[in-house]
Amino acid sequence: MDRVIIFDTTLRDGEQAAGGTLNIQEKLEIAKELEKLGVDVIEAGFPISSPGDFEAVKLIAKEIRTSVICGLARAHPDDVDRAWEAVKEAEHPRIHIFLSASEIHRIHQLKKSRDEILQIARDMVARAKQYTDDVEFSPMDASRAEPEYIYQILEAVINAGATTVNIPDTVGYAIPDEYGNLIEGIFKNVPNINQAIVSVHCHNDLGLAVANSLEAIKRGARQVECTINGIGERAGNASLEEIVMAIKTRNDFFNLTTNINTRRIYKSSRLVSELTGFTVQPNKAIVGANAFRHESGIHQDGVIKMPITYEIMDPKTVGIPASSLVLGKLSGRHAFKERLAELGYSLGEADFDRGFSAFKELADKKKEITDRDIESLIAQELRTVSEVYHLDRIQVSCGDRGIPTATVRLIGPDGQVLADAALGTGPVDAVCKAINRLVDVPNVLTEFTVKSVTEGIDAIGEVLIRIESEGITYTGRGADTDIIVASAKAYMNALNRLLVAKKMAE
Ligand code: KIV
Ligand code: ZN
Repeated sequence: MDRVIIFDTTLRDGEQAAGGTLNIQEKLEIAKELEKLGVDVIEAGFPISSPGDFEAVKLIAKEIRTSVICGLARAHPDDVDRAWEAVKEAEHPRIHIFLSASEIHRIHQLKKSRDEILQIARDMVARAKQYTDDVEFSPMDASRAEPEYIYQILEAVINAGATTVNIPDTVGYAIPDEYGNLIEGIFKNVPNINQAIVSVHCHNDLGLAVANSLEAIKRGARQVECTINGIGERAGNASLEEIVMAIKTRNDFFNLTTNINTRRIYKSSRLVSELTGFTVQPNKAIVGANAFRHESGIHQDGVIKMPITYEIMDPKTVGIPASSLVLGKLSGRHAFKERLAELGYSLGEADFDRGFSAFKELADKKKEITDRDIESLIAQELRTVSEVYHLDRIQVSCGDRGIPTATVRLIGPDGQVLADAALGTGPVDAVCKAINRLVDVPNVLTEFTVKSVTEGIDAIGEVLIRIESEGITYTGRGADTDIIVASAKAYMNALNRLLVAKKMAE
């Protein structure tokens, strides 16, 4: 059976999604998860775009051993050199060069002729080839370009040494049949195409990214560029989990395979959602909360009798645990550890101890602890690792008669105890104002959402906060059975990210 190469660009195109900034440790954590997931190529970033991106790609290149580590570069000598600097320590480095190809981009953006573009593409691939054998080239906006010109560019860059040629549907404009014809045309009209892998990169502006990618592999493409949860520029990229599960579930149709360990899909999805702050919509295919839930009586009856009646995939194949066990107050370390392992976590001793005490604390407040509670709790505990300021105490008074007042106590960078109080329009406003009096860094709160993790009045509340400072958005998350405490934790989490980013920039 033929294999499709899975190229994950969560850390590059995914991170380009508005508001999705990740810090260097978070990027490394995602890269490690992608490696465990079995991703063949990890596009770790765009090294010349910022010193932070450069450092992140460099670190990932050093740490990840099995996946190919790819750095993106525009077709400029400085970009290519910088991309190589960032990926050169990888076991398997790749440089990915892109250059606009469509007439729209040529006239309005590049202001260059077809011949000039052809020459630059050739030269830059040859430059990258001096560094590494593994060079990918993307004619940007290929789906809106003249197919004959795309054939010409591909032939030229393959002659210059490109080993993968990627066909971006940059603005998500293509329709499956039309995009498939372009891929087929490439196989028919590019004489040296058998010397390269044909890759596809589809955006989701018309909701067709996955459909276009699948049509392309049907017509011979053997690399798909995608992101976890489909995050990315504008409406996002093709979703990795949908592509992989379509290939696996409809093996009878595609007769293809991937290297992905599908049992880690759910875990990867949760991690990316947690770190980027992008909530997965409940009806999202494969990883949404409702993806395997049956509401109608007829469906429930069928699934009880025989799951295949209404379930085309076994939820266990994507790593959604069959919740056989609900933990509670009397559950011990062993049961907790086993549950964590089933959920795909393997924590070090210190993290496990912290997680276990948080679990015990929660079990005192909440009778039944479900998988979602555990996930939320572990994420909350692991989040506290890179703190500049730690939230130590918080007390709030509010109601329809009094003036909302918050008192907070923080532990500062050198261990000093800092306390202050503030009034606000509501308890969350008062908490944020009190924190701001202590952590004096200008920021504007741009988003605040609260949701309960499970049903029931004793459920954990998860708060997501986005703040903006100097044009950059930072996301914070917090979880607690008390939503004001969860809000304070989320705000502190966003502020800590801002402070760490500032420190890194310095
Ligand atoms: O969408 C696009 O064209 C891209 C390229 C850089 C491959 O992301
Ligand atoms: Zn893209």
